[in-house]
Amino acid sequence: MRRMLERAGLVALRRMDPERAHGLALLALRQGLGPRAPGGGPVTSARLASRLGPLTLANPVGIAAGFDKNGEAIREILAAGPGFLEVGAVTPLPQPGNPRPRLFRLPEDGAAINRFGFNNDGMEALAARLTAARAAGLRAPVGLNLGANKTSTDRAGDYETLIARLGGLADFLTINISSPNTERLRDLQGPAALDALLSRATAALQGLEAPPPLFLKIAPDLDEAALDAVADAALRHGLTGIIATNTTLARDGLQSAAAAEAGGLSGRPLLARSTDVLRGLAGRTAGRLTLVGVGGISTAEDAYAKIRAGASAVQLYTALAYHGLGLAAEIASDLDRLLKRDGFSTMGDAIGADLA
Ligand code: FNR
Repeated sequence: MRRMLERAGLVALRRMDPERAHGLALLALRQGLGPRAPGGGPVTSARLASRLGPLTLANPVGIAAGFDKNGEAIREILAAGPGFLEVGAVTPLPQPGNPRPRLFRLPEDGAAINRFGFNNDGMEALAARLTAARAAGLRAPVGLNLGANKTSTDRAGDYETLIARLGGLADFLTINISSPNTERLRDLQGPAALDALLSRATAALQGLEAPPPLFLKIAPDLDEAALDAVADAALRHGLTGIIATNTTLARDGLQSAAAAEAGGLSGRPLLARSTDVLRGLAGRTAGRLTLVGVGGISTAEDAYAKIRAGASAVQLYTALAYHGLGLAAEIASDLDRLLKRDGFSTMGDAIGADLA
């Protein structure tokens, strides 16, 4: 009955404006109408237990940033069975983001284009929600995706502010300088700007009583030289790892009517490129950085390919809009079967198995 209602809900939501549909889906989650994994927590097996840097995960299938930007349904999302959740992007001050419409479905491509521009309630609202969620109990790690305000005159300073204010509330932090929807944000991925940013960010982190692991989230549109520089900077500054990747500006081979909309493309067309970037980083950093694979995952096979290419964990977003939040638990369970099929008794043995 519950699954029938979920299916009917998904069909109705898919006919609606996508941003409105997402808002309603979050509302339904908060009302307790979302999918619930057995036990109301992460899908668990001895084989799926894994590590994300210093963190312990019951399973390596996470929910990517942007799904719950404001931390409105943290506990309900975790009840659906993912191994972890990345909330945000959050900016120091609340901001409205770009004018609507700013989220488009590309159903023929299993994809989406968004140009939200970091619409969010700001760090104080998020701090309050996260504090309340923690007090009520969290069943899996919750990280925070950090962004800069559009009107900020010192964007690196925004990341320092966020780390100082929110670092004590997060299981991990992600510096997101790869959103294509805040003008010039991606300039921070350039070597000199990145070096300055990471110096300030890691100094802010060291000011915390218990610094959480710090990740950097990168764009799939970086060339080989830029990837070298990013990997080098992440290692030099002692980051825990890299999340690869954010959405792309590329528009190759799309069928859907909305293909020409401006913004970042996510979903199936991003799968191959984001996995290539991940594999390239794994080759460059040889186990010295913890990698998270995200981009185009809609099946356990997709997730498994990223793990075998060097990811310690994976995240998904766009496929959830098409298949529902319950997909995370399904992928985790199916991944367990794939690991077993191939004779891996732990996740750790499968990470990077395809690397030469
Ligand atoms: C995103 N993504 C994203 N990433 C991020 O670092 N901060 C953010 O605030 C957002 N917001 C956001 C909104 C929407 C509507 C989408 C579709 C995506 C990117 C997301 O976390 C992920 O990196 C990409 O979408 C690729 O994964 P999928 O969607 O192909 O599984």
